Amino acid sequence: MNNFSVTNLRVNYRRNPLGIDDYKPRLSWEIISEKRGFIQSAYQIEVATEKGFQSEATWDSGIITTEQNIHIEYSGPTLKSRTRYYFRVRVWDNQETASDWSDPSFWETAFLTPTEELKANWLTAAPRLNAADQDKCDYLRTEFNIPGKVVSARAYATSLGLYRLFVNGMPADDTLFNPGWTSYNKRLQYQTYDVTSLIQQGVNAIGCMVGNGWYKGYLAWEGDKEFFGSRRSVMIQIHITLDDGSESVIMTDGSWRVSTGPLLMSELYHGEYYDARLERAGWALPGFAADDWEKVVVHAVPESVLVAQENEPARVTEIIKPDTVIITPQGDTVIDMGQNMVGWVRFSVTAEAGTVITLEHAEVLDRDGNFYTGNLRSAKQTVTYICRGGEEESYEPYFSFQGFRYVKVTGVSRDQLTNQFSGHVIHTDLEMTGSFRCSDELVNQLQQNIIWGQRGNFLDIPTDCPQRDERLGWTGDAQVFIRTSAYNMNVVPFFEKWLKDLAADQETDGRVPHVIPDIPAAGYGSSAWGDAAVICPWTLYQCYGDTRVLETQYASMKAWVEYMRRQGDNEYLWNTGFHFGDWLGLDAKENSYTGSTPKDLIATAFFAHSTDLLAKTASTLNNTEDEKEYRNLHKKILSAFRTEFVTPSGRVASPTQTAYVLALMFDLLEEKDRPRVAKMLAEHIEENGIHLTTGFVGTPYLNLVLSRFGYTDLAYKLLLQTEYPSWLFSVVQGATTIWEHWDGIKQDGSFWSDNMNSYNHYAYGAIGDWLYQVVGGIDLKKPGYKEILIRPQISEHLSWAEASYNSIHGNISVSWKKFNEVSVEMLVTIPANTLAEVIVPVSQYTEIRENGVQLDQVIGVAQVKPMESGCSFNIGSGSYRFTFPI
Ligand code: BGC
Repeated sequence: MNNFSVTNLRVNYRRNPLGIDDYKPRLSWEIISEKRGFIQSAYQIEVATEKGFQSEATWDSGIITTEQNIHIEYSGPTLKSRTRYYFRVRVWDNQETASDWSDPSFWETAFLTPTEELKANWLTAAPRLNAADQDKCDYLRTEFNIPGKVVSARAYATSLGLYRLFVNGMPADDTLFNPGWTSYNKRLQYQTYDVTSLIQQGVNAIGCMVGNGWYKGYLAWEGDKEFFGSRRSVMIQIHITLDDGSESVIMTDGSWRVSTGPLLMSELYHGEYYDARLERAGWALPGFAADDWEKVVVHAVPESVLVAQENEPARVTEIIKPDTVIITPQGDTVIDMGQNMVGWVRFSVTAEAGTVITLEHAEVLDRDGNFYTGNLRSAKQTVTYICRGGEEESYEPYFSFQGFRYVKVTGVSRDQLTNQFSGHVIHTDLEMTGSFRCSDELVNQLQQNIIWGQRGNFLDIPTDCPQRDERLGWTGDAQVFIRTSAYNMNVVPFFEKWLKDLAADQETDGRVPHVIPDIPAAGYGSSAWGDAAVICPWTLYQCYGDTRVLETQYASMKAWVEYMRRQGDNEYLWNTGFHFGDWLGLDAKENSYTGSTPKDLIATAFFAHSTDLLAKTASTLNNTEDEKEYRNLHKKILSAFRTEFVTPSGRVASPTQTAYVLALMFDLLEEKDRPRVAKMLAEHIEENGIHLTTGFVGTPYLNLVLSRFGYTDLAYKLLLQTEYPSWLFSVVQGATTIWEHWDGIKQDGSFWSDNMNSYNHYAYGAIGDWLYQVVGGIDLKKPGYKEILIRPQISEHLSWAEASYNSIHGNISVSWKKFNEVSVEMLVTIPANTLAEVIVPVSQYTEIRENGVQLDQVIGVAQVKPMESGCSFNIGSGSYRFTFPI
């Protein structure tokens, strides 16, 4: 009997994905073993088009001798469109014993050659001349007959604008905000829906609503709209297989009808206006009389490339009941959700026809307890609903989301507010992979705030904030937060998609727009923002061990580095152009958003860092020529950096925390100068009363640098600082998300100025990386956590901490707990087919026990060796219970 099995099969990181258009999907699996130290010696993959694997396999990999169990590219015969492929896996251990075959999983292709296969027409409504009518959403419909029993049906759909698809009156599925946000004029996603259970023999109806969304709606802060186009349109193609093997294909064509309906306005920032009296019952059901509906206009095919959705869809992931209902001093009725959240409110009411209900959404109350929307700038975040009357009626928005904790309601009696109103939390439905907790409840709240910041701002693209008239894919924010986000959730398909848009929007000279998808209002080319082009793919590779993202992004990464190289007249310094600098740094001059660290120092530091990562990428991809080129360039940038920004005796010439942090984090200083600069950083923080002065650029690395250079105790003190400025200041002020400013709400309850004050901005949440790595002690030694570093830095400030991370190889967990301040118990779990180096802070290994047994006698423990500060040893997969003195 073998005691190991193969489980958790994935295709491009997802389980059983429907509708992918990848010719070489990457297959991964996990191994569960009862024995310690499991290493896979070989695998075999079988792919078939039927679940039982009875007929001949489409692809049999044969027995492949390798430890690799992640990202194995399908390499059988060319895949066919619209086909379901089942696959199963078995593996061998190092004793040549095979596991059983895994349970089968599958992937299903969509269109591998979309231009040839997607034949449906693009439909739009005839232009509406009256300005008031232009805001109204479109309702499109058709009916068709199906002569036999339906075995399988798939709907493929997309739109310019946002759409909702209904089949026989039912939503095609539970996904929201389709087709998502891409650089629409270059790449447009279509979705695949399994509608088998919704299509019936006989007459069927399809309905589709289309709203402005990101394509045509208002974006950014100037009150502009139609950044991508002015005509909403939709394309739908449904393939229905009957039990006699025949296929019916239903497509959008000139016979469809279009009308307006109750949804009179829907805008991402501004909310919705819905007059339920205008509802046409049954409009998406068969038999509806659509005689007064207009004929559709067949629209030109967009030029963008159609791609199958690769990211997880957005969904309602949680429903929150209101905490309380408040009557504010100004007399407003306000629901408090108890959590700053992103999504919308669903409500049910019984009211007379024509009753006007309004819901306004805000993140905070002002210091007097009144409803406050100043920080939303022009975003209205207001839902207006006119009641139909009669029986209970319910509403939730279609194409608009709000960032809020407080909802000011008019038109509803108070008794209906708590039971019949609920907050629907909406974001890209990413798998949660990490958790962190410790003995300090304020830090635990901070971790929750980081997670909520990620949930609220990962709605199809990584945004800066989800509430004001912005909500854009700011590259700098994404870059600083990606590593933390990758602990919390499986973020690869989400970022792979966004990075493809980054590459698509990059100009031919390599400059990267500040926001992706690009909108002309935002600009381009700032250091630390544009570096997302390099840092994000590299981080994904590190965290998930998959070279695909590096291959796909390589040209974009290189173009960004070459762009930096061409700026100004010194090839090795970047001292020209516009930069955000250390955005919101606290050492900023009066009336400036930028900290005092010189912009050319930051720009050159990131130039060096991105060039270093590009050289490493070239090496990973076996591109020796480029590797040499960029190693060389990196050396020269280092030397220019030292000449320009480091004094001859080795001090960083600009004595700011961010300058010290970047110089140390990116290894810009000579080895001999590093300890002294680290000391100067520590002194700077201490002289500031254990306070940071860093902004967006310095903060994410601050604690990592302190820990790396032996100042973990100071890093803990910074973390646990509750006075402004600090991570816990906002927590003490009652924050439930991460704020844009350290003092978004000041001690006296007053606010930062309205023009830039988000209460849901994940950038400073980048401290999460340090929590997992240093407090929890889970870090990587080799890409994809094939080799893991377990090194919790146990502090006098905490009595216990626990971190867990579901890596691509399986679950890694560490928890440590002090007993009477004399000993520590540390539980560690490592997944099969990985190794870990464990470092514990005791000098004699003889003082360490595993389940009571001295370390060198424990099965699964190897290479025990003393280090400068502690003891290091290796462990194979399995669960361990270590004890050692403090
Ligand atoms: C955004 C930031 C962004 C910045 C550029 C702001 O408006 O909210 O998070 O990175 O602009 O400095």
